[in-house]
Amino acid sequence: MTSSLLWVALCLLLPSPFRAFKPLFSLDGESLTHRQITVRAVLRKTAEACQSLATAEGRGFSLTIDDSLTVTKVQSACSSDGSALLSFTAFHTAVAKLYFSNALVDVAMALSEKHHFDDEAFSGGRDVITSGVSAVKESVKAQRFLSGRLVLGWVCHTLQDFYSHSNWVELGNRVPYTTLIRPDLPLTNLADPSTPTCRNCVAGNCNDNILSEVLQQGLLTSGYFNLLFSAKPAGKCSHGGSFDQTSGQDAVGGINKDDVGASHGHMHQVAAEVAVAATTELLEDIRAFAGDRGFLRLMGLSQSSVLCFVIDTTGSMKDDIAEAKRVSFSIIDSKRGSQQEPSAYILVPFNDPGFGPLLTTTDADIFKQKINELQAKGGGDIPELCLSGLQVLALTGAPPSSEIFVVRDAPAKDAALKSTVPALIESTKSVVTFMLTDNLRSSRRRRRDTVGGTSNRLPESDAQLYRDLARASGGQAIEVTKAELPQATSVIQDASGNALVTVLQVSRTPGKPENFTFTVDSSIQNLTVYITGGSLSFAMSSPTGVSQNSQTSGPLGTMETVGNLRRISLNSANQTGSWEIRIISTEPYTLKVIGQSSFNFIYSFVEAANPGAHGDFSLKEGRPLSGANASLLVTVTGSDTATVSEVSLVDASGSREVNGTLRSLGEGSFLVTLADVPEGEFVVRLRGEDSAPSRSQTGGGFQRQASTQVKTSSFSVTAVSNSTVLEPGSTVSLRFTVTAANGTSGTFAVRATNDRGFVSASPATVTMTTGGTAEGTVTLTAPASTASGTDITVTIEMENTGTSDTNYAVLQLSVVTKITDFTPPQCQAVTVSASNCPVVCSHGDAIWELSANVTDGNGTGVDRVTLRLGNGTLNTSTATGAGGENVTVVSYTAPCCSDAVELVVIDRAGNVGRCAASIGKAVTATTLAITSAPGANVTGSPVVAITSSGGRCASLSLGLGLGVAFCLLLGGLL
Ligand SMILES: *[C@@H]1O[C@H](CO)[C@@H](O)[C@H](O)[C@H]1NC(C)=O
Ligand SMILES: *[C@@H]1O[C@H](CO)[C@@H](O)[C@H](O)[C@H]1NC(C)=O
Ligand SMILES: *[C@@H]1O[C@H](CO)[C@@H](O)[C@H](O)[C@H]1NC(C)=O
Repeated sequence: MTSSLLWVALCLLLPSPFRAFKPLFSLDGESLTHRQITVRAVLRKTAEACQSLATAEGRGFSLTIDDSLTVTKVQSACSSDGSALLSFTAFHTAVAKLYFSNALVDVAMALSEKHHFDDEAFSGGRDVITSGVSAVKESVKAQRFLSGRLVLGWVCHTLQDFYSHSNWVELGNRVPYTTLIRPDLPLTNLADPSTPTCRNCVAGNCNDNILSEVLQQGLLTSGYFNLLFSAKPAGKCSHGGSFDQTSGQDAVGGINKDDVGASHGHMHQVAAEVAVAATTELLEDIRAFAGDRGFLRLMGLSQSSVLCFVIDTTGSMKDDIAEAKRVSFSIIDSKRGSQQEPSAYILVPFNDPGFGPLLTTTDADIFKQKINELQAKGGGDIPELCLSGLQVLALTGAPPSSEIFVVRDAPAKDAALKSTVPALIESTKSVVTFMLTDNLRSSRRRRRDTVGGTSNRLPESDAQLYRDLARASGGQAIEVTKAELPQATSVIQDASGNALVTVLQVSRTPGKPENFTFTVDSSIQNLTVYITGGSLSFAMSSPTGVSQNSQTSGPLGTMETVGNLRRISLNSANQTGSWEIRIISTEPYTLKVIGQSSFNFIYSFVEAANPGAHGDFSLKEGRPLSGANASLLVTVTGSDTATVSEVSLVDASGSREVNGTLRSLGEGSFLVTLADVPEGEFVVRLRGEDSAPSRSQTGGGFQRQASTQVKTSSFSVTAVSNSTVLEPGSTVSLRFTVTAANGTSGTFAVRATNDRGFVSASPATVTMTTGGTAEGTVTLTAPASTASGTDITVTIEMENTGTSDTNYAVLQLSVVTKITDFTPPQCQAVTVSASNCPVVCSHGDAIWELSANVTDGNGTGVDRVTLRLGNGTLNTSTATGAGGENVTVVSYTAPCCSDAVELVVIDRAGNVGRCAASIGKAVTATTLAITSAPGANVTGSPVVAITSSGGRCASLSLGLGLGVAFCLLLGGLL
């Protein structure tokens, strides 16, 4: 009997057993969930990182760091330019990724005691945390922030569970147990396996069930837990609660503090507070490693957008690569020096059959130079790996919700990916716009003629594939001639603007005359209407009754027409209120209304893991089930005052709507229940009022729509991996389950793909008997040469071979080299001289100096020494110590007014040590405290007495806005 079989059997038989702080939602209104604990810690630490950057840049930072922080407050305070239009969705999305990943541990690792610190599994639990922290650091080093977030969320779950499941707070502790994130420190005072720790609870009251000798001796224990079996070592505490079979045995009852109604619910708030502090401490360790800017990128706050170009360099591009350069240069130059200047540029050339190398730079000139050096060669086979490029580079490589442009004239050779790409579009919510060019009017083009020469038009089937992908993502398929392409790039400029929001988006195939209305709120700027389609006419009218038709520009706005696209840029006067657009056409058309606003929303489908009995949720990946209820977690972004009145699924091509029932979860989040979702394709639409005084005067009504289409399926697919991290050379098993309504049977084709081309094996089909479920395993092997920090996105698609209906699951994993060095580098002070410093700091030229040695013992060696606090100059050199060891010699000089220094020393395995020194003003003999992080009270810290004092005026900082990531795939231009 293998453990995986047991696991599957349990999943079928039992409701998901929650035995931790509730993962996502607190329905009693008092208990704190893993979500809230994580969000509080993330907001505190993010605000601190912004504060430190602001100080370094000499800017003010007025935010008070406490539990009232919100994503909106923190990001606004972090922004260096108060007047910039900010989008809050990326930060919200990153935070959501953290708490969804955190919640997943209760599903994927339901039976692992170490992931929950059950059964006194302290050593195993600490390993989960410390190996996870190492993996997060590897991801940060490789700039794979998305996979870094996934592992970080996972690690936080285990860390937080310690405070609910152990007797740490019952022992009187009100601060985190730092040893859990310090693998170099021994776990001490653990209760012996044979030592009884609890007595029976009396009449269901467990308040006083921990044995007094355990409390007196300060022995650490945790509750035993089992879903199936009641056996546990005699006299040990249990977790407690109705799912825990061990809680009926001696000692009866439990000690968990998962919520206020738990066995030790009276200590829930205390445990949750310490869990927040512990999560903050863990984030501080990662921040010290990543630096403030790196940490903010990990948290989803980055300076601005990422611009990426994926350019075809096959031989047939030879004549035309100049045009590709022109388009990319004009986009780069138009953003230079503006608020919207990208923070990073990515270039990926692609050829037949390969890609790369990938270039990432922050310097626009280096980027342009690299584009200039591109040479067209090779290839010859016309269809290119367009979809592979989209899969590997743009959809899995760019941040979620990126805007991606693909310029194409060639069919997709890799059309096998045509179902994988929609799955990735749905899962990343990125928007893909295709610029489809034809060659009819281009005399320069020769590539078509080289193969058969039948037609130099993109085949209709390929054009339709691209149109379908665009529609599914909320992008557009813009069909122009080569000559018109330069004019069409205004769409690219629009789409790279800050804080884009979709007000309305519809597509009609076939077309039919229809009147569309939409509400524009006062926060929206630069309202733009796009209409694509063959022969059509339209008329629109503004809230004040002014109208304009399809012939020309008019009183409402300026119209440009390129190919099948009409772009109307609306004048800024009188926009607020209800608009109408009447379209008359019988050919397929699309209508899209966008603007710029801080105010938007994010959503995720969630799944009641345990309907009825327990009432909590986890992220639902893949397509929602048709004919069933669905739940959405919706969060309004960019406003702490908005109220949501309606969340609906709106049929993407017709007029059907499914209205949700809303339940407020506080802080702008809502749990939305949709009853009996029909089969079809939908978009999520949100309507409401913003009660902020500045908005309500002008009628606070607003509407927003999500770009990505939601497609329903008659069956669902879930997949779990028992680890988010694998080592190079190792193989991981991903278990998947297909579920359909009872009585369904059939055969499902299985297609597993990944964006790294790693070898994977899966059954070709799985068969569902009438029970309504089928299972299988996909194995995936990371080559031994895989670089540490590499991430992989695995898409497992299932197709019902009878009905062609499809659904999928997407899993992300990181490849990380096993870490064996867990000891942080140590600091040893050599001298501190502050004798020139006056007693009262006077902004003079006087300086103080610190000299220290940093060593890493038997570890991987010192990687870097960075200045965390202090206004001085840091220099390092290397030397060999008395015992032959490598020593990093640190010398630091600072003005006497900058009286404190904190150095962060990091070894090659990512272990973080700290040295703090100060010349305080209050005492004459000041101590130099040199500590190793993250705890302060580490033995062996040398203390050096110095004989001076100084004043203080230390300062530290950075400004942050947010933009979209923005990718352009240029293939077969001209
Ligand atoms: C659209 O509105 C116009 C003017 O109000 C009306 O004449 C027309 O019948 C409407 N068309 C449709 C398809 O509802
Ligand atoms: C609106 O568009 C104008 C012109 O394209 C641009 O200068 C301005 O920055 C845009 N507004 C915002 C908020 O980006
Ligand atoms: C805006 O509305 C006012 C009256 O409400 C009207 O006089 C003016 O012409 C309108 N301007 C535009 C550009 O529609």
